[in-house]
Amino acid sequence: MKVKEGDRVLLIDEKGKKFLVRVEKGKTLSTHYGIIELEKLIGADFGDFTYTHNKRGKFYIVEPVIPDLMMKVKRETQIIYPKDAAIIIMWLGIKEGSRVIEIGTGSGSMTIALANAVGENGKVYSYDRNEKFQKNAIKNVENAGLIDRVEFKIRQAHEGFDEKEVDAVFIDLPSPWEALDPAVVALKGGGRLGVLSPTCNQIETMSVKMKERGFIDITSFEILLRHMLPRKGMTRPLERMVSHTGYLLFGIKTSIRLPE
Ligand SMILES: C[S@@+](CC[C@H](N)C(=O)[O-])C[C@H]1O[C@@H](n2cnc3c(N)ncnc32)[C@H](O)[C@@H]1O
Repeated sequence: MKVKEGDRVLLIDEKGKKFLVRVEKGKTLSTHYGIIELEKLIGADFGDFTYTHNKRGKFYIVEPVIPDLMMKVKRETQIIYPKDAAIIIMWLGIKEGSRVIEIGTGSGSMTIALANAVGENGKVYSYDRNEKFQKNAIKNVENAGLIDRVEFKIRQAHEGFDEKEVDAVFIDLPSPWEALDPAVVALKGGGRLGVLSPTCNQIETMSVKMKERGFIDITSFEILLRHMLPRKGMTRPLERMVSHTGYLLFGIKTSIRLPE
């Protein structure tokens, strides 16, 4: 496959450092080795390589995958990492054609993962109360080429959602319970609710409230991802890791039982 004008391309240097760029005429990428004229990439094969203007830097031309797009968003908030997004999508049963509500859009990292998973026939409805954050997220999702699959809305969690009978709701808020009753109303019977929270206290409070509202199969866990250093005769874990992002919590909606 050949690189076209407008493509998002990952350039990887010989030490493994990654640069996500859009291939546009007249645009350049400055690296500590030198400059790359991005126009030069048009017509190159993915998997091929290019050099900086002074030939000091060699960069492989690679098609980015969803984790690259998530990790390279411009951050205005904490973001959801691919290790968590992957399992969230699996546990929420999100597939081609799914309709999903997300609240906190944040920087749009999770929005990118969700929009990719729902496919061309699905929809993500992404809510946040902060207009500045959401504007930045919109740009990030646009850059990922997935904007057509997302509707963004400015809203406080407790004010509720516009959609009904959605397949799944995902909550990433400091007070996830603010979105719980709105989620109950919006979810279809048997729909899945997912939450990511950084502390155990949030998970405990939320799980009790989910139980009160008739959710079943309530389960919580965290994902620890430890990278390895694969080398001949010396393969071992890397010394450093992202040891904590958040705890995950899931449940299935059975019937609407909002508190009196
Ligand atoms: C940690 S960020 C979400 C990050 C996002 N999942 C991502 O991957 O980029 C939390 C977001 O929740 C929003 N937020 C916090 N409380 C809220 C509330 N009560 N209603 C709506 N949005 C809220 C914040 O503005 C912030 O953008």
